[in-house]
Amino acid sequence: MSYFYTLNNGVKIPAIGFGTWQIPEGELAYNATLAALKAGYRHIDTAMVYGNEKSVGRALKDSGIKREEIFVTTKLSANIKGYEETLEEFRKSLENLGLDYLDLYLIHNVKPWGVDSDGYDYMNANIASWQAFEKLYEEGKIRSIGVSNFLPGHLKILIENSKVKPMVNQIRLHPEHIPTENISFCNENDILIEAYSPLATGKILAGEKYAEMAKKYGKSVAQILIRWSYQQGFLPLPKSVNEDRIIENLDIFDFELTPEDMDYIGKIV
Ligand code: A2P
Repeated sequence: MSYFYTLNNGVKIPAIGFGTWQIPEGELAYNATLAALKAGYRHIDTAMVYGNEKSVGRALKDSGIKREEIFVTTKLSANIKGYEETLEEFRKSLENLGLDYLDLYLIHNVKPWGVDSDGYDYMNANIASWQAFEKLYEEGKIRSIGVSNFLPGHLKILIENSKVKPMVNQIRLHPEHIPTENISFCNENDILIEAYSPLATGKILAGEKYAEMAKKYGKSVAQILIRWSYQQGFLPLPKSVNEDRIIENLDIFDFELTPEDMDYIGKIV
C-alpha cells in the first residue's frame, strides 16, 4: 500500500490496517491475515488478548514479504500492568508473533477489563507500563508506542509523567460513534487516531442511510465508511475473514467523498 501517515516520531505507518479483533486463533486468523497480505495490506493489527498472535505470526512468515515492509501492531493486555510485568508480556507477544521487533505496541485499555473503577486509579500502573514501553522503544525493540481506549484526561496524565509522548491512540470510531473531545485532543497533540470497528462491527452496513451514496460513487457502503474515516485523517482498521471483503476494504484510494457527503456521514465538530 502506498498511502501512509507519519507518526510524531517520524515513523511511517500504512494508512489502513487489517484488524484481527474477533478472528479466532487457528486457520481463520492465519488465512485472513495471509489473504490481507496478499491483497496488499502492509499493516496488521492484533493484540495479546485476541488470542491470535501465533496464527498472525505464521501468516506474516509464510507470506514471504520482507519483515521491514510490514507494519505490525500488538497490544499489552489490559489486565497486565507494571514495569516488569510489561517487559515479560512484551517478550511473550514477540515470541507468539515470531518477530524480533514490533512496529507499534499499545497499552490496550486504561483499566483491566471487568473492573468497576473509573480508570484514573490505574494511571500509576499505566505509567509504570509506559516506562517499560519507553525502555523497549529506546532499545529499538519497538519502533513506536501508543495507547488504546484512552480519554483526554488519561492522555494528559501520561504525557505529564513520561519522556516519550504516545504516537497513537486507538479508539472505537465510526460515523455513529464520534468521540469529538478525544479527537480534538489527539489532533492538538499530534497523536494519530486509529479507528477500530470502522464499520461498527458490521452493524451499520445494511441501513438505508449510506446505500444511495454508495451507489453514487459506485462503491460499497463499507468502502464509503472506510474512506470517510481515512478522509477525516483517522487510520481505519477494518476486520473481515472473507477474502473478497478484505480486498474490497482496501480499495478506497480511487475516489474522494465531497465535503457535503463527509458531513452527511458524520460531521466532526
Ligand atoms: P466478515 O468478517 O464476515 O467479513 P469492523 O471492522 O467495524 O469490526 O466490522 C467487521 C464486521 O463487518 C465483520 O462482521 C465483517 O464480517 C463485516 N465486514 C467487513 N468488511 C465488510 C464488507 N466489505 N462488506 C460487508 N461486511 C463486511
